Amino acid sequence: MPVNFELVLTFIVWLDKTQLLLVFPMKKLLFLSLFVSAFCFGQSLDYTIHKEIHAQNKGLVVSAHPLASEVGAEILRAGGNAFDASIATQLALAVVYPQAGNLGGGGFLVGVKNTGEKFTIDFRETAPEKSSRDMYLDAHGNADTTLSQDGGLAVGIPGSVAGFFATLKHGVLPMAQLIEPAIKLAQNGFAITKREADLLNAQKEAFLKHNSQPIPFVKASPWKSGDLLIQKDLATTLKRIQALGEKGFYEGTTANLLVKGIKAQNGILTLNDLKNYKVADRAPLEFPYKGFSIVTMPLPSSGGILLAQMLKMSSYGHLDQFKFHSPQAMQIMIEAERRAFADRAQYMGDPDFVKDPTELLTSEAYLKSRWKSFNHLSATPSAEVGEIIPVQTESTETTHISIIDKAQNAVSVTTTLNGLYGSKVISPETGFFLNNEMDDFSIKPGVPNMFGAVGGAANAIAPGKRMLSSMTPTIVLKDSKPYLVVGTPGGTTIPTSVYQTIVGIIDFKLTPNRAVNAPKFHHQWLPETVLVEKGLNRAAIKALKSKNYIFQPVNQIGRTEVILVESSSRAIGVADSRGDDSVASE
Ligand code: GLY
Repeated sequence: MPVNFELVLTFIVWLDKTQLLLVFPMKKLLFLSLFVSAFCFGQSLDYTIHKEIHAQNKGLVVSAHPLASEVGAEILRAGGNAFDASIATQLALAVVYPQAGNLGGGGFLVGVKNTGEKFTIDFRETAPEKSSRDMYLDAHGNADTTLSQDGGLAVGIPGSVAGFFATLKHGVLPMAQLIEPAIKLAQNGFAITKREADLLNAQKEAFLKHNSQPIPFVKASPWKSGDLLIQKDLATTLKRIQALGEKGFYEGTTANLLVKGIKAQNGILTLNDLKNYKVADRAPLEFPYKGFSIVTMPLPSSGGILLAQMLKMSSYGHLDQFKFHSPQAMQIMIEAERRAFADRAQYMGDPDFVKDPTELLTSEAYLKSRWKSFNHLSATPSAEVGEIIPVQTESTETTHISIIDKAQNAVSVTTTLNGLYGSKVISPETGFFLNNEMDDFSIKPGVPNMFGAVGGAANAIAPGKRMLSSMTPTIVLKDSKPYLVVGTPGGTTIPTSVYQTIVGIIDFKLTPNRAVNAPKFHHQWLPETVLVEKGLNRAAIKALKSKNYIFQPVNQIGRTEVILVESSSRAIGVADSRGDDSVASE
């Protein structure tokens, strides 16, 4: 009789949540060795989702998809280090998690080596040479977000492949080996989950609108869990990268196909844009916090600055004197978030183009003066720190990978197409979705982007400029060694989710599992409302409502992937229960 794959997955996730497996190690061993060979509609499936693994003298990989985490772990078993594993895992995600894993997007990597070396790789997309500040404004000067969010004009120059090659110099294995698992997954296909089937079905119309050629993500009958997704064109593109290196993407056949396809969808990307794309090596943003050192992403991601501001301001509010999710603690955190996001809108942009405000915005004098307006009796009106803008809906895209190897090298990398499947455009014969990252620029100052963030002049479009991001890949050090590897998707909710996870572990002494899976809340200055997940303490919400806080329920905030290093030989990996996210051990 066929086994219902979704039921098997749900059971596994439930087991992990109950932590019964941790209480009964024998059962855990049995469970971990179980190869779930489920049969659904006649197709063989071999996923195992692990939500928490305690590893001893072994590396860990946490990502949004069990197959991708397993690819990373396999690279560690083959002698690769955390940097090798991060490349292979990202490449696998480009195949098995096409909604956000990518070749056609960009992101940020924070690395800490066991030698103490700390670095970042900025492989953020950049604006094409033919872009201009007002390119999304109509004849009446109104911003047309359909152009910045969908179709060819939304595409920024992809940085991910350059990011893989920049990471390679920190690894020990050749790219040909790291890319092989992704090629196999694309060529042979993999069985999709119900969640993935539902997403593909929901996007069918958009895929058809932006692609005139057949694409593997569209089929006549609806997708269902267990269906095999085969991506032949993507396998061919990956093989070109395998054979030719970076030039297999940024020049020659792939580049020609990309430019032709984007042009056919009204885009402006040129061969020159691709050929000239460069990653940026930037010094990490590093600051002390309660005896730990936080190593995170500087501009052009706002994430690191926001994280520093929120942690510092809430420490001025004596956050750790209150109970986790008490009204007092929540108020302090909401107000720290409000003030940080107000600064994001006003001052932040690509530091290669605008004055870098980091030093000022993270300084004690500035943040203490910012915190002076905190009033425990009442919400601070956002109007006191900026102009009110209408509410815009949230999205939860992007994807994050946390890795530690047994030699204690750590990688935190967040990568994105921006929206769900990015611009929805696939250039014919390339097989991968292109980003819609141009929407992360402020397309008209005062108009919120798809995540509801308001951008000012610092984040205006200019050729070659990187759009402001919220991605917050972070590594927390204890005694100069990796202690926490953390990050999440979620647009503007990224910095707040990382912030809440860090204070959960450091200030409130939660287990990593509890810190990741506890309900989250998010405030971003504008709109005035606080987004909340289900399950927050009702009495706390009631108390905060009486202080003029307005709450808006949302389905989920972030999908945080965490590794907590207990000692040089022991680490705990936790994958967020909000999705199919999974941790794999070496
Ligand atoms: N596009 C999502 C981010 O950059 O944060």
